[in-house]
This record gives sequence, C-alpha cells and structure tokens, in this order.
Amino acid sequence: MNVADPRVADDERAHLCVDAFADELVSARALHTALETGLIDELLDAGPDGCTGARLSERAGLHGRGVAMLVGLLRAGGVVAEADGRLVLTDAFRRALAYRDLLEARLGFAFDVLPDFHDRFTTLLRDPDAFMGDSRLFELFRYDRCFEPFPENRRLTWRWMELTTVLTRYEARACLNRYDFGRHRRMLDIGGNSGEFARQACRAAPRLQATVADLPLVCELGAEYLRGEAEAARIGFHPGDARFDPLPAGYDLVTFKSFLHDWPDSDARLWLQTAWEALAPGGCLLIYERGPLEVSAGVPGFSLLPHLLFVHAYREPDLYLDTLRALGAEDLSVRHIALEMSFQLVTARKGGAR
Ligand SMILES: C[S@@+](CC[C@H](N)C(=O)[O-])C[C@H]1O[C@@H](n2cnc3c(N)ncnc32)[C@H](O)[C@@H]1O
Repeated sequence: MNVADPRVADDERAHLCVDAFADELVSARALHTALETGLIDELLDAGPDGCTGARLSERAGLHGRGVAMLVGLLRAGGVVAEADGRLVLTDAFRRALAYRDLLEARLGFAFDVLPDFHDRFTTLLRDPDAFMGDSRLFELFRYDRCFEPFPENRRLTWRWMELTTVLTRYEARACLNRYDFGRHRRMLDIGGNSGEFARQACRAAPRLQATVADLPLVCELGAEYLRGEAEAARIGFHPGDARFDPLPAGYDLVTFKSFLHDWPDSDARLWLQTAWEALAPGGCLLIYERGPLEVSAGVPGFSLLPHLLFVHAYREPDLYLDTLRALGAEDLSVRHIALEMSFQLVTARKGGAR
C-alpha cells in the first residue's frame, strides 16, 4: 500500500507536505488529471529511469499536445522534472505521494465543491439557508440517506465516509499527541463515523474499549471498514439517530471529533448535554474540531476551499466552554493546534469519583 502509515508516524504535521501540490487551482487540476489518468502511476513504475512523453501520452490516453501541456504544468508545479530527456517524479512529490490517499481526498473534495464557490459564494455569504438548500457540499453529506442499506445509499454514504475517514486518519495524531487516552477504559465517540478515530485511540491505549455511535448505515459501513484491523475487537457500533435513540451510559470518555460544527448553537448545546449524561462521574469529555478558517493572514490554498464554505459552521470554542461550565464541568482546557488550518482541542471533567 502506497500510503504512509499514520499509525506509526508521530509527526502530526508530516502529511501537510501534500499542501504544496494542492494549493493552487491550475496546478491542482493538472495533478488531479495526472492522477486519474494513470500518468503518475506510469512515472512511479518507471522509477529513476523515467519515461518519455510518448509513453505517458499512450498510458494516459491523452492527445500529444494535451500531454505536452499537462507535463508542462506538472513541471511548473514541481511534480515532475526532466533528466536526460526523460521525465521523472521529483523527490518532493514522491514524499507527498506517501500520503496519496490524503492528496486524492483533498483534491477530490475541493473539485467536488468548486461549483459552490464559483456559482454560489455570494448566496453563501448572504443567505446560508438558501446555500444549504442547493449546494453540492450539503448534497454530498446527506445524512437522510444513512438509514436504509439500499445499494445507492451505501455508495453515496461511503463516498463521503471515505473522505472523512482519510481526513481523520491524519488529523487524529495531533489529538493523540496531546491527550492521554490511556487514562480511560470506556470511550464513546458520538458521530464516530467509520471508527477511524476510535481505532487510533484504541491503538494508542491498549486497555481502551470504544463504542462508536452513528447513523445505522454509517455503522454498518464502519464495521466493514474496521474488519481485519487489530483494534476491531475492542470497538463496537451503536447504530441509531442519537438525537432520539438513547445512548448507552457509564463511559469515562465521551468524544466529539469534527461533529459539533454540523449543528446550530442550540443543537450543539443539546449534544453536549447528551454527552454529559453518557459520562460516568469523574469521566472526561473531549471535543476535537476545526476552528474558523483564518483568512487575514493570506488567501487560503485551493484545497481549503471546502472549509471556506463552512464559514457559518466552524466556531470559536466559547459556546462549548459556556455550556460545559453550566453543566458543572471541571478542569476545562482549550488548546489550539495548527494543522492545514486551526483545530481546537477542548477537554473537561465531570465531577465525582474518578
Ligand atoms: C462531519 S462527520 C464527522 C465524522 C467523524 N467524527 C470524523 O471526524 O471524521 C459527522 C458524523 O456525525 C454523524 N451523525 C450525524 N447526525 C447524527 C445523528 N443524529 N446521530 C448519530 N450520528 C450522527 C454522521 O453520520 C457523521 O458520521
């Protein structure tokens, strides 16, 4: 598998090397085409000997002038170089290709929602509800399709689950580096998706058992995703709509990873209340979320486009802190973590016996 194994990589920022190849629209589009046509694979297979433009043209099924244009763009973007008249992948791009799943996921996501930015950015800023009603972004994340296991629902649900799973694969490390999951025995991950976050937590904490609460079809696909993983036996799924179906209780850790931003303030407060009830006395609540996208320091790179569209969703942690204080939380803490954008890690303890 041509993917760096984040399960052993401690460097929480190592994967950010993909940004250099996804930060600008024209180069990103050229790279996306090179990946989807097999041109990058051909160059990988060729290794240090490289290959000719004619060979690439044949493999990628591109017109002669087309391949010349594409190779020119890839050269300008630092993906390929020419050595002795043959084309090779640059060392920097080879390093980024170790995170190919992430690179492809971020390019794919940004291109999927590009029409939203192009056609509906004004609507987004003017009328968030109208944007939600007809955006590709919200069409992609259709939770109403996550109940019945029809083949079309499975296909469409896995499409976005694959994306969230890849993002979590690389985002989890920064949380694991700052929070000791080994203090806990029973974790509940609300909206835990494919179980990737729970899997990494269980891997870091060998005595931890986890429950992933999510919508029925998401749980079904999550169980399939985890099959064969060493931690799978320690992770159970709790299918249902957690707004209405009661969650199990007695956990010493309840987590929300990239979940609360999906909900307006009033619902986010209710989710925190729900999580608090699932916590045993002395247990901890952990929120790991993107914060607002910082734009004053510079124009965000192309691959951050989807996050620009979440302008009304990503929030500062104040609402969480105020709600948790009102619930009687102790030992509140907030940490800000710089990845491709700012993340926040909020933790709080429920009073009572440990
Ligand atoms: C933005 S995704 C985040 C997934 C995952 N925690 C991550 O970080 O990649 C939100 C998750 O919440 C789940 N979800 C949404 N509404 C839900 C509900 N009412 N009950 C349970 N899960 C829900 C979705 O199916 C999805 O897996």
